[in-house]
Amino acid sequence: MKVCVLGAAGGIGQPLSLLLKLQLPAGSQLSLYDVAPFTPGVAVDLSHIPTDVSVKGFVGDDVEAAMADADIVVIPAGVPRKPGMTRDDLFNMNAGIVKNLISAGTKACPNACYAIVTNPVNSTVPIAAEILKSAGVYDKRKLFGVTTLDVIRSNTFVAELKGKSCDEINVSVIGGHSGVTILPLLSSIPGVDLSQDEIEKLTPRIQEAGTEVVEAKVGAGSATLSMAHAAARFTSSLVAAMNGESVIECCYVQTGDDTSSFHAQPVKLGREGVESIPPIPSLSEYEQKLLDDMREVLDGNISKGLEFARS
Ligand code: LMR
Repeated sequence: MKVCVLGAAGGIGQPLSLLLKLQLPAGSQLSLYDVAPFTPGVAVDLSHIPTDVSVKGFVGDDVEAAMADADIVVIPAGVPRKPGMTRDDLFNMNAGIVKNLISAGTKACPNACYAIVTNPVNSTVPIAAEILKSAGVYDKRKLFGVTTLDVIRSNTFVAELKGKSCDEINVSVIGGHSGVTILPLLSSIPGVDLSQDEIEKLTPRIQEAGTEVVEAKVGAGSATLSMAHAAARFTSSLVAAMNGESVIECCYVQTGDDTSSFHAQPVKLGREGVESIPPIPSLSEYEQKLLDDMREVLDGNISKGLEFARS
C-alpha cells in the first residue's frame, strides 16, 4: 500500500507522517511531498525509525512523482487560521492549492482514495470532486473529508464530563467540519446518558473546539497535533478497510447522486473506499433542529467549492 502525504513538512504534515511511519502495516510505502525545500530531510529523518515502512521525500515540481500510483493520498497542505478567522476565510488561499494537487493526482494516481484535511473541508472536498470528475476519474467512494477530529474531541470532552475512559466513548458527528455544521449526536452515545442541559453546553464547545485551539495558539496557527492524530486514525482505518477489514468512521462524503450532496456521517469503509452509508442514527428534537438549521450554511459551502472548481 502506498500512502502519499501532501503538505508533509507542515505543522500537521510532520506529526502525521511520523504517526503513519509508526502505524502503517509492514511493507507500506510512505511518500512525502511539500513545497518546503527541507521535505526530503523530513523523509530522511523518519527513515531512521525502525519500522517496515519505507519513506521517500519529494519537493518542488515533483508532486506527480510523489503521487505516482498512490493508493491513498492524504492532504493537509495549506494555510491555517489565525484568531478571528473562520475556516471559510481560508477559501481564497487553500482552494487553489487543493485544486492543483488534485489535478496532479488525476494524472499520477487516477485510482487513489483521497483524504482531505485542508480547510475549509466543507468546500475543498466538493472542489476535489469536480476536478476529478472533469478529468473523468471521479469515484465518489474514494473521496473523503477528514472529520475525525470532531469525533475524537467529542469522545474526549464526554469522557472528561462523565469521568469515563475515552476508550469507552464513541460519539457520531454528522454534518460538516465548521461551526454550526458540526453536529455531535450526544443524545445517542452508546452507554452514556447526558442531560439536555449537558448536551446544550457541550454541543457549542465541540462546534468551536477548533477556534479554542486557534485562540490558545495566539496567531501561531490551528490544531496540528490532534489533527495529525485524527488524520492518522482515519488513514489507518481506510488502510485496514482496503485490506479487507470492516470499519466504520465518520467522514464527509458524497451521500447523494451528485456533487452538491456532501455530508459527514458514520460510513462503512471497504476495499474500494465507501462500502455503504448506513442511515443517520435517530436524532433528538434539539439535534434535528440543528441539522435543519445548518443546511443552508453547508449547501452554501458546497456550492462555493463547486463554482470555484468549474470556473
Ligand atoms: C480544527 O478543527 O481544529 C481544524 O479544522 C483547524 C481549524 O481551523 O479549526
